[in-house]
Order: sequence, then structure tokens, then C-alpha cells
Amino acid sequence: MLRTHTCGELTIADLNKEVTLTGWVQKSRDLGGMTFIDMRDRYGMTQLTFNSDDDAEMRAQARELGREFVIKVSGKVIERSNKNLKMATGEIEIKVSKLELLNPAKLPPFLIEDETDGGDDLRLKYRYLDLRRNPARNNLVLRHKMAQEVRKYLDGMDFIEVETPVLIKSTPEGARDFVVPSRMNPGEFYALPQSPQTFKQLLMVSGFDRYFQIVKCFRDEDLRADRQPEFTQIDCEMAFIEQEDILNVFEGLIRTLFKNVKGVDLAQVPRMQYTDAMRLYGSDKPDTRFDMKFVELNQIVKGKDFPVFDQAELVIGINAKGCAEYTRKQLDELTDFIKRPQIGGTGLIYMRHAADGSLKSSVDKFYNEDDLKKWSEAFNSEPGDLILIMAGQTDRVRKQLNELRLEMGNRLGLRDKDKFAPLWVLDFPLLEWDEDSGRYHAMHHPFTSPKTEDIGMLDTNPGQVRANAYDMVVNGIEIGGGSIRIHDRELQSLMFKHLGFSVEEAQNQFGFLLDAFEYGAPPHGGIAFGFDRLVSIFAGLDSIRDVIAFPKNNSGRDVMIDSPSTIADEQLKELKISTTV
Ligand code: AMO
Repeated sequence: MLRTHTCGELTIADLNKEVTLTGWVQKSRDLGGMTFIDMRDRYGMTQLTFNSDDDAEMRAQARELGREFVIKVSGKVIERSNKNLKMATGEIEIKVSKLELLNPAKLPPFLIEDETDGGDDLRLKYRYLDLRRNPARNNLVLRHKMAQEVRKYLDGMDFIEVETPVLIKSTPEGARDFVVPSRMNPGEFYALPQSPQTFKQLLMVSGFDRYFQIVKCFRDEDLRADRQPEFTQIDCEMAFIEQEDILNVFEGLIRTLFKNVKGVDLAQVPRMQYTDAMRLYGSDKPDTRFDMKFVELNQIVKGKDFPVFDQAELVIGINAKGCAEYTRKQLDELTDFIKRPQIGGTGLIYMRHAADGSLKSSVDKFYNEDDLKKWSEAFNSEPGDLILIMAGQTDRVRKQLNELRLEMGNRLGLRDKDKFAPLWVLDFPLLEWDEDSGRYHAMHHPFTSPKTEDIGMLDTNPGQVRANAYDMVVNGIEIGGGSIRIHDRELQSLMFKHLGFSVEEAQNQFGFLLDAFEYGAPPHGGIAFGFDRLVSIFAGLDSIRDVIAFPKNNSGRDVMIDSPSTIADEQLKELKISTTV
């Protein structure tokens, strides 16, 4: 090896040792008779010194070193006169006797320091330089640690890691597929997997019993902070189990990760029905770090000639504790917030529960003091509280109030990144009505089993049928989801029928799975965690981009390698793809 030690390990215990180090020049300082260089590698930073007794040529060479030059030095570990106790190596320095330039470097386009002056796109273009910065590197080290802990836990539980193919078949359900043309089969395409769902089920038919894979998945959907076109799942499946077994095994995984990686002891993960999540938080992924549950008001506000409430399907509100003193301007800001097109609210009604105990609403014309007392009771309001109320169509107004609740959580500092509130959301609906296509879609995926007692409603009331499906949510982010699967050909065919597939379409798309179910398929189920999301929560970050080594930007581009890109006409011809669009 070129070095005897790394830049992060030498301490006062190593005094007088002759060592050789390699690394990058972080910065150099010339102070009269002395030249100091901070040298960095993955492990840390060590100070090098050159002074006037040194060989003049070497000192001149040291003075010439620029930021990010790659060097090798040999010398003696000596005690620093000016110690920096914040650094692991801060009590020592290396008195250099030999300096070798391994490679010079151009001036980097942004500062390679914890606080950098580089914008997002510039840092992505030079991601290899960005990854030299401590915060960026630490995220990948954290990711590595978490992956090791996942493997250790699952291996300890007899899960077997199996790789499934990446060139598979396009299916119409779910998000859009990325497709890959096949040269050997002109006019035909593979699809990249949105998840290894059908393969992991087939592995259960094969008798593997417990499978996992830390696996890349691909979805051609609009990007957001918590979505990338290629992302990683911890994908798992088990046979001969019930829902309760899955919840226990994977709650164990999450608790082990929190304990071993973050040193956090999570309490038992609470469970909530999907219908309660929607009713109390207006979201299937509630942020339960704070309370502020919804209160429904139809019973007490209707019939007082206030048309907005009388005409609404649902009148609903939250208690923003301690906000009674909000100014007109702050209230207008909240109204503007819920009226933004992405949220689509029509208006906000409020009631102040003032410090002196008096109640005052923005609709005093319609509601007298006795009415407002009832509001106050419903919200359990205390002097100092502000009640915020919205009205409208049930599903829509719940979604809108969810946005307002999260906004108030932010404003009140209730969404602390160092606090973790995991939650199981259970019993999702099996089907979801899609306005655009005018038919039902599988809410999770078409292989999810309905609750046995609800199967009868598939014909009469499909929207009410519940699934054996569950999500794990942490701090309002869906970090994982799964279900107990159908393992019976007849029930699977019935599901496809309800999803609008003809018998031929179902056979064409999923014949392999339907056939497999006739050869002894065990009862099975599973879950997949979004690994990038999990790591970003552990790192206290909002975007999963920061925990991915080479992510795409907001337009789905890799600006470093400049992809996607056009391909040569010859390649297109070979693939029998027309060059005219
Ligand atoms: P699902 O589609 O819910 O389930 O995905 C599982 C988890 O993957 C994460 N995730 C994403 N992360 C980053 N970018 C994306 N574009 C993205 N899409 C999803 C989420 C999500 O909870 N096969 C089923 C699992 C099963 O039933 O076992 C599946 O893929 O954290």
C-alpha cells in the first residue's frame, strides 16, 4: 500500500512514529516561516507542517500545492503547539520529510467543504467531487451500514437473498414502465421491473419460504423529493404466514435498524385502520409526531343558515394550539395556502379562543355564543387556541385539511427531525376508482388478497372491499407497503375480471402466475421498504437524492453523464426502430 496510516487515525499515542500518508489537499496556509497543509481522505484530516529548516525545494513545492492535489507524504508525528480538540487528529501534526505529488488537480468548480457554494445542478454535474464532502460521504456510509444491518437481521431470520431479472415484461398496472428494445426480437420490448413482485411470489411457489433482495426498481413517474425513477427496495416475501407474522417480523427489522444504527429504542409500532387515518388525519400516511386530529362538525354547525356549511358534505377542523393571537395577515397567509391550486381549498373559517376565555369566529353573523361554546367543546379548546375549519366534499376536504395540518405542524415546530413516529396503517381498500379510465384499479397491486369476509361485496360494492394490505409510515412518509397475496387461480382470475381484464388479457399478461398457482402455491405475503426513503429519514434529510450516490435531477436527467441521450441511427436501425418520430 502507498500509505502506512489514514488521515483520520493518528493521535497523541502515535508521537514520534515515522508514517506515510496519502490524500487530497484541503487547503494550505503560508505563515511566514511555516507552511501548513490540511490533508484529507475518507477517514479524516491531518495537518502537515513544513518549516524553514526543511529542504528549500520541498518547501517551495509544498507552497505550490493547490486545492485537491493528490499527494503522498512521509514524516514524523509531532505534538501540535496549537491544538484543535474538535478534530480526532487535532493534537498532532506531521513534520514532513518527503513530499511526492501523485496528481495535480484543476481548481474545483465549488468549495469542497461541509458548507459549499455549489448549487444543486453544479454539484450533480461534478457529483464525484460533491461526494468528497463530509455530509455527502456520510450519507453513503450510513446507507452502507443500514444495508449491512438489513442483511444481518434477515439472514438471522433464515431469509435467502435471491436476484431476480431486470429485463422483464411490461404490464399495464401501476406506474409507467421503462422499456428496452430487443435486437434479437425486432419490434419487441422488455420492461424494467417496477418491483420484483411476481418473481418473489413465484419463489414462494418454488418453496424458498423466506426471500429478500435489496433491489433496484424502475418507475417512469413524475419526480418529487421522495421519488426517483430508479430507486431501491428492501423487497421481502414469506410463505406459510399470516398478516400478523409479517407485521411482527418487519417491525422487528425497523426497530433493529433504529437501535443498531441510530441508537434509538422505538416503542411498539402503533396500528391504525386506513379508515381512521383518513377520518382523523385526511391521509393514509399521517405524521403522528404531533396530534392535531380532525374534528367533524356536521352535527353542530348545520341548520344555522350559513350556506357554506349547510351545503357541504363534510365540515371539519383542527385545533391549532396557542395560535389565538394570529394576526389578520397570518390568517390570510393560511387562506392563501389552502387556496393554492395544488391544494384547491375554497376558504377557511376560524374561531379564536382568546386568552380571556372569549370565543370569536369569522362567521359570528350565523353563530352565537352558545353555538361557539359547542365548537369549543368539540375541539377541547383552551384559552389561546385557534380553531381552523374547512367545508366541502368529504374526500377532497380531508385531503385539503391534511395539507393545512402539516403546514401548521411546520409553523409550530412540531415536526422535529430527531423524533420518530412509526405507524402501521392497516386494511386498505382493495380497489380505487379511477376517474380518467372510468374503472377500478388495484389500490396496492392486483395480487393483493381481499379480506375473506368482504369477497361477497366485489360484485355489489367493490369500493368497500378491504384488502389484507398494510403500509409502514414514519413521520408522515410511506416507507413500506405490502400485502397477503392471492394464491388461488380462481380468486386471482376473479380479481383480474374486476380490474377490467378479459380472460385472454389476464392469460397474456399474467398466465405464468395463474399457471403457477395450479402447481401447489403456498399461502404467502410480503412487504417492500423504500430503502432510499428509510436512509433519508435516518439522515434527517427531506430528499432521497442526497442518499443516492449518482441520482437523477428533477427532470429525470443524469447531468453528469448526460443521460438520457439520443442514440446513433445505426443503433436504431439494428433495433428496427423508426428514426422518424
Ligand atoms: P410499493 O409500490 O408500495 O409496493 O413500493 C414499496 C415502497 O417503495 C418506495 N417507493 C419509492 N421510493 C423512491 N422512489 C419511488 N419512485 C418509489 N416508489 C415507491 C416506497 C414504497 O412504500 N411490490 C410491492 C410491495 C409488496 O407488495 O410486497 C411494491 O412495490 O417507500
